[in-house]
Amino acid sequence: MTSQLPETHRALQLISTEEPLQVKSFQTPQPGPGNAVVRVLAANVISYSGEVYNGKRQYPFPRPFVPGSTAIGRIAAVGPDATTLTPGQLVLLDCTIRGRDDPTAIILSGIAQGFTEGGRKLMSGEWRNSTYAEYTKFPLENCIPLNEQRLLGSPSAGGMGYSVEDLCQISRFLVSYGGLDDIGLKPGETVIVAPATGQFGSGAVRVALAMGASRVIAMGRNEAALKQLSTLNDRVATVKITGDEKADAEALKKLGPADVFFDISPPMAAGSTHFKSAIAALRHSGRISLMGGVQADMSFFYIDFMHRNLSMKGTWMYSRAQIFNFIKLIDSGILPLGEKAGLTVSGKFGLEGWQEAFETASKAGTDETVVIAP
Ligand SMILES: NC(=O)c1ccc[n+]([C@@H]2O[C@H](COP(=O)([O-])OP(=O)(O)OC[C@H]3O[C@@H](n4cnc5c(N)ncnc54)[C@H](OP(=O)(O)O)[C@@H]3O)[C@@H](O)[C@H]2O)c1
Repeated sequence: MTSQLPETHRALQLISTEEPLQVKSFQTPQPGPGNAVVRVLAANVISYSGEVYNGKRQYPFPRPFVPGSTAIGRIAAVGPDATTLTPGQLVLLDCTIRGRDDPTAIILSGIAQGFTEGGRKLMSGEWRNSTYAEYTKFPLENCIPLNEQRLLGSPSAGGMGYSVEDLCQISRFLVSYGGLDDIGLKPGETVIVAPATGQFGSGAVRVALAMGASRVIAMGRNEAALKQLSTLNDRVATVKITGDEKADAEALKKLGPADVFFDISPPMAAGSTHFKSAIAALRHSGRISLMGGVQADMSFFYIDFMHRNLSMKGTWMYSRAQIFNFIKLIDSGILPLGEKAGLTVSGKFGLEGWQEAFETASKAGTDETVVIAP
């Protein structure tokens, strides 16, 4: 479908990790088969963005490219094979792009090209540029329609009264939904989330509550953040990671037995004692979800796993089907967003404010979201 796209648009470009990002003018992308061009309204900024784009985290991506993350946007134009998406529609732009002929070739748009040759090809070519831009081209299947009337509409008209920026909070919740759904979290179960004091970790506490966990045990080092999490709901309990593996396991067991251990450790937590404490506190047939970014060999006591029928599953992001199931939790209000849920947008920056956006995100509290609104 044709549209009135401007000839040029502005986007943030990473030329190399050794130099600052630059805001530049580019030809506006044009729609084609299998994709849509979307006006980006607000794009999420993850807490460790600065470390991704300055090279510290050594994420693989092509250079130059337009960084970004999962975003909220409005369809500006669609390719000829779009069947339901139409210009003007509010969408979630899911950053998890998969090869159409090989869904195991995965990239995180604007963040990493993944670890396969297919991923490298996807991100160095067609899907090189992401959402820190006025316009972006995205696969049709990554444009997830949102019920604008319900989500942005006024409460007096049956809406939730959210802002576009509030909707960016979906991004952090979706990640843990993928892992918790993959290991079949059921209502009434007890979940250990660790570490629970980061952006995705604290998101997991809220998601587990929304999925019906009868108890969510938030583990972390930061006592103030744990205290904050405990005020969310009386189903939340907290255990501090003290570094004493056995003592922490005993503290968890007193609140258990736990059915599920959801781990979302960053690379820095590779040596943390919480892995063994949490595994020790699982009941027979307990399940473990690994969603963190630890780059290390981890050890566990083999026969203990066998005797207790434990199972462990890694999950990178989530499936498209999981997104649609998750959106039901948002539409229904079971998982509330925005200020009424105690979630604030602590920073909204233009493209030029990228550095401040990354700094603000790195210091954001568990209930704070930072966005770039190009
Ligand atoms: N599988 C996926 O699809 C997926 C998606 C997104 C992210 N991730 C991974 O998830 C990781 C965590 O995300 P996030 O947003 O929660 O990160 P974050 O906001 O940077 O928070 C980091 C968390 O780790 C804790 N931590 C840091 N160093 C630690 C240590 N030495 N021992 C114990 N805890 C430690 C922090 O606790 P303190 O407050 O005590 O410092 C905080 O709770 C990311 O680094 C990324 O690799 C995976």
